[in-house]
Amino acid sequence: MTSQFVGKCFCMITGASAGFGQALAQLMVKEGGLLSQAVNGSKIVLLSRNVSGMKQTRTAMEEKGYDMSRFDVEVVSIDLSDTGNTEGKTLEYLKKQSKEYDNLILFNNAGVLGDVTSTAVDKTHPIQDYQNLFNVNMVSPVFLITNVCQHFSTSKRTIVQTSSIAAKQALNCMSTYCSAKAGMDMFMKCLTKDHPDITTLSYSPGPMDTAIGNDLRLNHKVESVRESWEEMKEKGTIVNPYDSATKLLEVLQTGFKSGDFVDVFGRTG
Ligand SMILES: NC(=O)c1ccc[n+]([C@@H]2O[C@H](COP(=O)([O-])OP(=O)(O)OC[C@H]3O[C@@H](n4cnc5c(N)ncnc54)[C@H](OP(=O)(O)O)[C@@H]3O)[C@@H](O)[C@H]2O)c1
Repeated sequence: MTSQFVGKCFCMITGASAGFGQALAQLMVKEGGLLSQAVNGSKIVLLSRNVSGMKQTRTAMEEKGYDMSRFDVEVVSIDLSDTGNTEGKTLEYLKKQSKEYDNLILFNNAGVLGDVTSTAVDKTHPIQDYQNLFNVNMVSPVFLITNVCQHFSTSKRTIVQTSSIAAKQALNCMSTYCSAKAGMDMFMKCLTKDHPDITTLSYSPGPMDTAIGNDLRLNHKVESVRESWEEMKEKGTIVNPYDSATKLLEVLQTGFKSGDFVDVFGRTG
């Protein structure tokens, strides 16, 4: 498979300390992977809160990656639930970055599920809890994407958003998560409408065996939901984050329509 991400590349992955983001980071630097044709001076930025998790990701990339001497792999700790932290650190970070990259690819992947033990109104939460969820899943990503796109305005820009079936379907006990995912999908479509030169993709990775998947399996209020996650885990039909990341990287390398929603099973919508 050939990669369209040639030349000097700047790649940022949010939520790179665990789960899907960790898998994605490792797979893209393998031989034949998304960044296999990136040249010297390319940069990969891992962004989340947990520095030791991101360092583990970097070590795994260095161990398994193909010709890692081409890349400067940076670990950047930002708390996306804190908009002041996100704004200050993002602007400070971007100010120091050269604009001279052929390709920009940003994976907006960090996410939080919120409380799945209650329905929308049977238990209320302090307003800060709602704020935190929307900050991580929507407010900070919009800020990050717009600022990164503006900074790298002369690069070929690709933005990939980790979406979910929750963006398309109303799910029990997940009202805020569903709203934020649907909102981000629409933001991506609007971004493409305003800037047809920016390529966007919303990718739904499927029901994955990660911390978020565990939370749904163990703590969801609705018994049948917990049971269906348990069954997927037992039967091995739960999606491995590495398999889902492989599928996403294939979609990116084989082509898709900008603005599209694609899921791990190849369905568009
Ligand atoms: N698992 C599923 O079944 C499933 C299905 C559909 C979509 N998704 C989506 O897939 C994406 C990745 O989730 P995952 O399943 O891999 O779960 P995960 O293992 O819990 O990973 C979530 C990532 O988001 C980061 N994050 C959370 N809060 C953050 C904050 N305040 N600031 C910065 N980073 C933060 C975490 O890093 P730190 O803790 O280090 O900050 C972590 O790297 C999410 O967008 C999720 O909504 C998951």
